[in-house]
Amino acid sequence: MSESDKYPEDSGRRRFVKGVVGGAALAGVGAAGATTINSATSSSGAGGGSTQAWAIENTDGPAPRGMPVIPVELDGEGNVRGVWPEASSTTQNGVSIQVAEIEDYKGSGTTYSTEWYQYCGVESYEGVQPAYDGDNYFRSGTSPAYTWQQEELSQGEQLNIEHFQDYREWGNGIGTPGIGKPATGTWRSQDTEDTMPIQVIRSPIVEEIANGERDVSDQVQAWVSASTQDGFIAWLNKCTHFCCVPGWKQSASAATFGDADQVYCQCHQSLYDPFSLVRTLFTARPRPD
Ligand code: FES
Repeated sequence: MSESDKYPEDSGRRRFVKGVVGGAALAGVGAAGATTINSATSSSGAGGGSTQAWAIENTDGPAPRGMPVIPVELDGEGNVRGVWPEASSTTQNGVSIQVAEIEDYKGSGTTYSTEWYQYCGVESYEGVQPAYDGDNYFRSGTSPAYTWQQEELSQGEQLNIEHFQDYREWGNGIGTPGIGKPATGTWRSQDTEDTMPIQVIRSPIVEEIANGERDVSDQVQAWVSASTQDGFIAWLNKCTHFCCVPGWKQSASAATFGDADQVYCQCHQSLYDPFSLVRTLFTARPRPD
């Protein structure tokens, strides 16, 4: 074995992946520490720093915050996709960088920024680069966790509203039936080795929040109304603790550790409530140059 095999080049990609654990731990310091972390990381990449995402709430376990939601829209044929803003250039610390964000997203009062997904090494993925040429559709991944998905969908197939017609009755013996039908999949991961895992639920609860029929704040209602469609809600399925891939109604252990109707991370038992949306401030990791 040559020296270069044993000690591969210290590429930006490797550097950022190695930094994942530190990033997750640091993220717990909250707003007060954000400036310090930002100045320590901004020189080695682009487009990171303090950001405030909408997230499904972390309700228990060691995760420092919720998982960031992905605004959803359906095309004319009912295919479900995540919204990705057009890339544009801006100047940060005197350097021109690309960003993908939308101010006042659909009148919600929220600036939607794809920096929300820059943690857990995802900041180095091709799909999270603002100008990555993807079609943004959610696709069924390898080995989906749900029997219905294993039986009806092939790998790479686009998720479509037709697959979720029974969302008001669906159940799989874990938690309460009739509160939504889930799928797992990928986003902006075609033609790249990096897979961005996502979880989708079509739920009557989401529709009720969007329609103002649930007791939530005006801010939450405005965001859910703007970022969901036909009851579909989605998020980047990377646990904010140490980056495992959690699941909704995938494990009976969720009930043992708290609530079978919540998203459960099997690594260290963090729980997230997919029907409780919160704003979460954290330090997005810069993308490698
Ligand atoms: S709880 Fe530790 S990785 Fe999810």
